[in-house]
Amino acid sequence: MSEPKALPAEIERILYTEEQVQQRIREVAVEISNRYRGCDLKLIGVLKGSVFFLTALARAIDIPVKIDFLSISSFSTKTTAPGLVRIAKDLDESIEGEDVLLVEDIVDTGFTARYLLQTLAARSPNSLAVCTLLDRTSRRIVQVPVEFRCFEIPDRFVVGCGLDYKQLYRNLGYVAVMKLERNQ
Ligand code: IMP
Ligand code: MG
Repeated sequence: MSEPKALPAEIERILYTEEQVQQRIREVAVEISNRYRGCDLKLIGVLKGSVFFLTALARAIDIPVKIDFLSISSFSTKTTAPGLVRIAKDLDESIEGEDVLLVEDIVDTGFTARYLLQTLAARSPNSLAVCTLLDRTSRRIVQVPVEFRCFEIPDRFVVGCGLDYKQLYRNLGYVAVMKLERNQ
């Protein structure tokens, strides 16, 4: 075994190790494979946060699966109403008649997931559900159905496995709590 690497200075502690994350992704992939066997499954990732989770999940799913991506911008500044979201880069292909799983890094207030579910539902998929790496139900403002999730997390700002702080730390294999004032 190699020596454990020092944590980056801005990181307080590891919440889920890389092994725990990979193990949980494999478990959820089994659930998804069983649920969607015989279906026309498409994973839709929300750039950029869900890329790492989506690829690990897709690798662990053992039924045929398509993937596509979209990206959004949200305007939740103090001067605008919170939770305003719009699509900045749309999907490449139609989802009509497909069984769509929206893959998220984290569902927090729920605004992003709700907006995307509404938008995608209008495009006539055969079915539509949400799969998220992290779920923070304690901060939910709008209710959204989350069918598959790897971890329910406490009210702390986290990074790693695709989640960023100022665009950094997405490439960490573990999920970690940041040293931030809001986390004290
Ligand atoms: P929601 O619309 O409030 O559910 O927020 C979803 C988005 O906020 C996520 O896709 C993340 O980009 C971002 N976000 C929320 N919490 C965290 C966090 O703890 N770390 C990093 N990004 C976060
Ligand atoms: Mg994000």
